This record gives sequence, structure tokens and C-alpha cells, in this order.
Amino acid sequence: MRVVNGLMKSLVCFLLLACFSGIGYAGQIEKPISSECLDCHDIAPGEIGGDYDKAITGSVHSGLECLDCHTAIIELPNEENLPAVYCGECHEEEANTYQWHGRLRVPNGEDVPVCADCHGKHDIRPSTDQRSRVHPINLPETCGRCHEDLDLIKKHEIYVQKPIEIYESSVHGKASLGGIYVAATCNDCHSVGGTAHRILSPGDPESPINHFNVPHT
Ligand code: HEC
Ligand code: HEC
Ligand code: HEC
Ligand code: HEC
Ligand code: HEC
Ligand code: HEC
Repeated sequence: MRVVNGLMKSLVCFLLLACFSGIGYAGQIEKPISSECLDCHDIAPGEIGGDYDKAITGSVHSGLECLDCHTAIIELPNEENLPAVYCGECHEEEANTYQWHGRLRVPNGEDVPVCADCHGKHDIRPSTDQRSRVHPINLPETCGRCHEDLDLIKKHEIYVQKPIEIYESSVHGKASLGGIYVAATCNDCHSVGGTAHRILSPGDPESPINHFNVPHT
């Protein structure tokens, strides 16, 4: 009898528990999972791989879930106006270094490039990979998206209006297009301390192409 009593008690306990966790479950919003995203978002326009899943899988971020970057999504379907992905969440050092672009303060400056403007969104590769947007051979195109845009250049009163054309007709550009990556590319002449995360205005005394630094650069 004592055994049966014990059994009854555990059964009641079990039912109560199941009941409470059931209520808890129904009252909670379930966090979405990455595979659900693909139901509505298949094609990733212009990215290597063609869809979000393949682009991520082939990138430096293979293994990351959609929600590791899209942290603002808490339920589905998601809102249409989400805040931008913040790469600095995991790349604190780069985010700390990247404070200026030309005379613009990051991230508040209007038209200032964000991480994804240079690196891409989902198909990000290391700069040593020829398919990377920041591989030396692709920088003229990546930087040129803004620096060949005359409206943008005029709006920001940038003095040299055709840096890509000038570059591509130069001995550096020709060597680079011919596949000799040791030739100087945008980054080599404009980056302070060798990182594109510190590209300053030529008027800045720290800029490698400041009048006084040109002989050294
Ligand atoms: C039921 C369909 C549906 C599911 C599931 C879904 N989305 Fe969306 N999502 C949309 C719609 C509709 C839009 C707005 C139109 C568009 O940009 O395609 C959108 C827009 C977006 C945007 C752009 C938002 C902006 O501010 O422009 C992102 C990023 C996004 N979704 C990510 C995700 C991620 C990550 C998941 C998985 C956790 C997901 N979505 C699951 C329907 C869905
Ligand atoms: C490494 C971070 C990262 C991961 C992981 C990631 N995304 Fe994104 N995604 C971005 C960035 C950056 C943008 C550009 C807009 C922004 O900043 O919010 C973006 C934009 C989008 C958009 C808006 C349309 C577009 O192409 O710009 C959709 C839809 C989207 N992502 C879906 C997904 C899905 C689905 C997954 C998982 C398979 C995923 N993302 C994983 C970084 C990421
Ligand atoms: C959830 C964390 C996370 C987020 C968010 C994230 N990354 Fe990463 N990223 C990683 C990890 C992990 C690696 C691989 C380890 C490493 O090499 O640092 C990586 C590697 C990289 C690399 C290659 C590093 C190398 O040394 O080759 C680049 C470039 C990069 N991420 C850029 C970005 C950009 C741009 C964004 C925003 C669109 C972003 N990441 C968002 C975690 C993240
Ligand atoms: C061999 C070195 C060198 C290379 C390579 C190079 N530049 Fe320049 N760039 C310069 C110099 C020098 C100036 C002129 C600065 C001045 O007027 O004081 C300049 C000017 C500029 C300016 C305008 C600055 C201003 O205030 O007017 C931009 C933008 C620019 N370059 C972008 C690029 C891009 C994008 C690339 C790659 C396609 C590139 N540069 C490649 C040396 C270089
Ligand atoms: C103006 C273009 C530009 C912007 C904006 C930019 N990067 Fe980069 N990034 C580059 C280039 C070019 C390289 C490779 C050479 C170097 O270090 O300058 C690079 C290198 C890196 C690397 C080292 C791994 C590699 O591929 O060499 C990481 C990680 C990285 N960037 C993350 C970020 C993050 C995170 C942000 C935003 C906070 C960001 N970048 C913004 C152009 C950019
Ligand atoms: C998303 C657009 C965008 C991208 C991509 C971009 N830039 Fe810029 N860049 C700007 C804007 C806007 C300014 C104007 C800031 C200012 O007033 O100096 C600027 C300023 C500059 C300046 C300083 C010009 C001056 O007169 O102060 C240089 C040099 C420069 N960029 C080089 C580059 C290089 C090299 C790359 C690629 C690694 C690049 N940019 C990528 C938008 C962009």
C-alpha cells in the first residue's frame, strides 16, 4: 500500500509538472531557428553561392546561425525594419580601430561605409582569398562603388574625382590587374598603419599620402 501511495504521489507530481511546463510553454514565444528563415528567404542576390545558406556555409562564418548576426529577430515573421547587424559584437578590435573614414566619423557620418559595404554580408572571405571583396585585386571595384559615384564625391567635396581611373592607368594598377598583387593597391597608399580600418583624409598629418609622408609611402 505504501508503495502504491508513493507511486500515486509521483504520478500526481509528474502530471502537475507536465501541466505547469505545458502552461509555461504555451505562454512563451519560441525563439526562431535558422532553418525556418530559409522558408521565406532563399535567394541571396549577388552573393557567392546564390542563397543565404550556401553563402554562409562557404564563408568564414560557416557554423554561425542566422540569428547569431540577426540578433534583433525574436519572433517570426520578423519585422520589416530591423536594426543593422552589428559586427563589432564579435569583432571588437576591428570595430574599435574603425573610427574614421576620411573626414567622417564612424558610424554616424552620412554615407560612411559600414563593415558589410567592404566585406559583404553573407559570403565574407578572408582578404587573402581572391573571391574576397577586400582582396587587393577587388579593392578598386569595392571602393569604386562609392568613389566612382560622382554625386557622392561632389556631396562630400572630395578633391580627386576619379581615383580608380587614375589608379587603373597607373603602373600600380596595371600590375595589379595583371595579377601581380605585390603592386600597390588602394589600401597600401591610403591606410594608416596598414589597415583599411584607418583610411584618413590626405589632409590629415597621419595619412600616408599627406604631402609630408608621400616620399616615405
Ligand atoms: C514567414 C516568412 C518569413 C520568415 C520565416 C522569415 N522572414 Fe525575414 N522577412 C520576411 C519578409 C516578408 C520581409 C520583408 C520583405 C523582404 O525584405 O523580403 C523580411 C525581411 C527580412 C530582413 C530584412 C529586414 C530589413 O530591415 O530590411 C532580414 C534581415 C530578415 N528578414 C531575416 C530573417 C531571418 C534571419 C529569419 C530567420 C530567423 C527570417 N528572416 C525569417 C519574411 C520572413
Ligand atoms: C555574419 C553575419 C550574418 C549572418 C550569420 C547572417 N546574416 Fe543576413 N545579413 C547580414 C548583414 C550584415 C546584412 C545587411 C543588412 C544589415 O546589416 O542588417 C544581412 C541582410 C540579410 C537580409 C536582408 C536582405 C539582404 O540580402 O540584404 C536577409 C533576408 C538575411 N540577411 C537573411 C539571412 C539568413 C536567412 C541567414 C542564415 C542562413 C543570415 N542572414 C545570416 C549578416 C549576416
Ligand atoms: C557571432 C559572432 C560573429 C559576428 C556577429 C560576426 N563575425 Fe566575423 N567571425 C566570427 C568568427 C568566429 C570568425 C572566425 C574566427 C576568426 O578568424 O576570427 C570570424 C571571421 C571573420 C573574418 C575573417 C577573419 C580572418 O582572420 O580571416 C572577417 C573578415 C569577418 N569575420 C568579418 C565580419 C563582418 C564584416 C561581420 C558583420 C557583417 C562579422 N564578421 C560578424 C564571428 C562573428
Ligand atoms: C600609389 C599610391 C596610390 C594608390 C595605389 C591609390 N591612391 Fe588614391 N590617392 C593617392 C594620392 C597621392 C592622392 C592625392 C592626394 C592629394 O590630392 O593630396 C590620392 C587621392 C585619392 C582620393 C581623394 C582624396 C582627396 O581628398 O581628394 C581617393 C578617394 C582615393 N585616392 C581613393 C583611392 C582608391 C579607391 C584607390 C584604389 C583603386 C586608390 N586611391 C589607389 C595615392 C594612391
Ligand atoms: C573601407 C573598407 C572596409 C571597412 C568599412 C571595413 N573593413 Fe575590414 N578590412 C578591409 C580590408 C581592405 C582588409 C584587409 C587588409 C587590411 O587589414 O586592411 C580588412 C580586414 C579585416 C579583417 C581581418 C581579416 C582579413 O580578412 O584580412 C577583419 C576581421 C575585418 N576586416 C573586419 C571588419 C569589421 C568588423 C568592420 C566593421 C567594424 C570592418 N572590417 C570594416 C576593409 C574594410
Ligand atoms: C559606402 C561608400 C564608401 C566605400 C565603400 C568606400 N568609401 Fe571612401 N569615402 C566615402 C565617403 C562618403 C567619403 C567622404 C568622407 C570625407 O569627407 O572625407 C570617403 C572618403 C575617403 C577618403 C578621403 C577623402 C578626403 O578627401 O578626405 C579616402 C582616401 C577614401 N575614402 C578611400 C577609400 C578606399 C581606399 C576604400 C576602399 C578600401 C573606400 N574609400 C571605400 C565612402 C566610401
